[in-house]
Amino acid sequence: MGNEPLGVRLVFAAMFLLNAAVLCRGGITSDFVRHPEKAVDMPLDADVFRIPPGYNAPQQVHVTQGDHEGRAVILSWVTPSEAGSSTVFYGTSEHELEFKAEGTVTKYNFYTYTSGYIHHCILSNLKYTTKYFYKVGIGLTTRVFWFKTPPKVDPDAPYTFGLIGDLGQTFDSNITLAHYESNPKGQTVLYVGDLSYADIYPNHDNVRWDTWGRFVERSTAYQPWIWTTGNHEIDFAPEIGEYVPFKPFVHRYHVPHRASGSGSPFWYSIKRASAYIIILASYSAFGKYTPQSEWLEQELPKVNRSETPWLIVLMHSPLYNSYSYHYMEGETMRVMYEPLFVEYKVDVIFSGHVHAYERSYRISNIAYNIIDGNCRPVPDQSAPVYITIGDGGNQEGLAASMTEPQPRYSAFREASFGHAIFDIKNRSHAYYSWYRNQDGNAMEADSLWFFNRVWNLREETYYP
Ligand SMILES: *[C@@H]1O[C@H](CO)[C@@H](O)[C@H](O)[C@H]1NC(C)=O
Ligand SMILES: *[C@@H]1O[C@H](CO)[C@@H](O)[C@H](O)[C@H]1NC(C)=O
Ligand SMILES: *[C@@H]1O[C@H](CO)[C@@H](O)[C@H](O)[C@H]1NC(C)=O
Ligand SMILES: [Fe+2]
Repeated sequence: MGNEPLGVRLVFAAMFLLNAAVLCRGGITSDFVRHPEKAVDMPLDADVFRIPPGYNAPQQVHVTQGDHEGRAVILSWVTPSEAGSSTVFYGTSEHELEFKAEGTVTKYNFYTYTSGYIHHCILSNLKYTTKYFYKVGIGLTTRVFWFKTPPKVDPDAPYTFGLIGDLGQTFDSNITLAHYESNPKGQTVLYVGDLSYADIYPNHDNVRWDTWGRFVERSTAYQPWIWTTGNHEIDFAPEIGEYVPFKPFVHRYHVPHRASGSGSPFWYSIKRASAYIIILASYSAFGKYTPQSEWLEQELPKVNRSETPWLIVLMHSPLYNSYSYHYMEGETMRVMYEPLFVEYKVDVIFSGHVHAYERSYRISNIAYNIIDGNCRPVPDQSAPVYITIGDGGNQEGLAASMTEPQPRYSAFREASFGHAIFDIKNRSHAYYSWYRNQDGNAMEADSLWFFNRVWNLREETYYP
């Protein structure tokens, strides 16, 4: 709608109301019904949690972007018995790790748990589009991994992101991760929050933060995962004397928030290839005048779509969600930020939290004010597509119950575990696909060509 004359909009609005009154024709509610078994956590002695051999061997290795442009990484790992070394040796040849960088080490206590030695090391001034090998550890117990840097920021640089959320550490989580790995295109994971679910164990048993780190290492040590915080990262437990929210997360997962002028690791931005990615915090203050809100208002005008055509926002709690589970939880942030997302033509917003999959049409609901009572999502070609991808497979199981009938703005919804791929081809096209976990294979169950909101104003799909 966006640019049509007022008359056309009114006619449309009238048709819409009429339609809504007679029959709510939504999009597709998939008739694929997944087996309803409960998601079960992998036992502590599962193969994926195995401790790497050797005294004090580095474990839980993970890499994330380390600057604003993609020329740096932050490498993190844990040594269990003693601090050992925080030095990383790295280079472009596996046999000649010619560079070295010094990291830092930290640890924390949580109730009766004491963490291992958590190391963080920044490698900067890397070359673009280059494979780097790196070595962590000391003496006889070192481990070597590799990662690839992205292309230089460029409006037509192709790049492929994976989308995973609410993973946890069940047998289903392991299938989701294996499916993502078997989908060899993913170069960086945009992770929409809720990592280990350690907080559902007695006293937030932080041993489950360690097992999660070891479980995902097979991917996180080789490609960046871009972290968003969810409610399971809060770890606020006054009943056992733990008053500092996000304590385990901030010790274990470092992000490059300062590079985007953010004072907090819970909201920040990065550029990567042709994408500009803004990470927001559903569980940090976001009302008017809060640090997050002030930062976002200054951040959006800085995005230069001639440089990074694709504007992607990540947050944990979805702004549009037609499942019964977590219904309306994103509403306060929607009221605050949706006008900005439409003004700055965000291409897509990914979130998690709801353990299922849903994709919206391009809609907005920004005409509302408390006096006119006008309060319905309407088609809006300047608005983002909203995608809920909280279907990683954690212990809480699937969110199978949906509001009925399916609202008109909801294009596709299905309660299955899975992951998605956002495959940017150039400044105008990106191919998006969602893969459900099924029968040992990753099945493409929903897909869409995305047309960039600045460079290609065609509609991707038609509102029913
Ligand atoms: C997890 O998945 C990997 C890869 O498919 C497999 O090798 C491993 O045995 C699985 N572990 C469990 C506990 O399911
Ligand atoms: C936006 O990016 C383009 C392409 O990199 C550049 O030529 C232009 O100067 C930038 N505009 C601003 C306002 O920085
Ligand atoms: C962008 O990619 C799409 C899909 O691969 C292709 O059809 C289109 O021609 C490309 N546009 C340009 C300008 O290369
Ligand atoms: Fe959540």
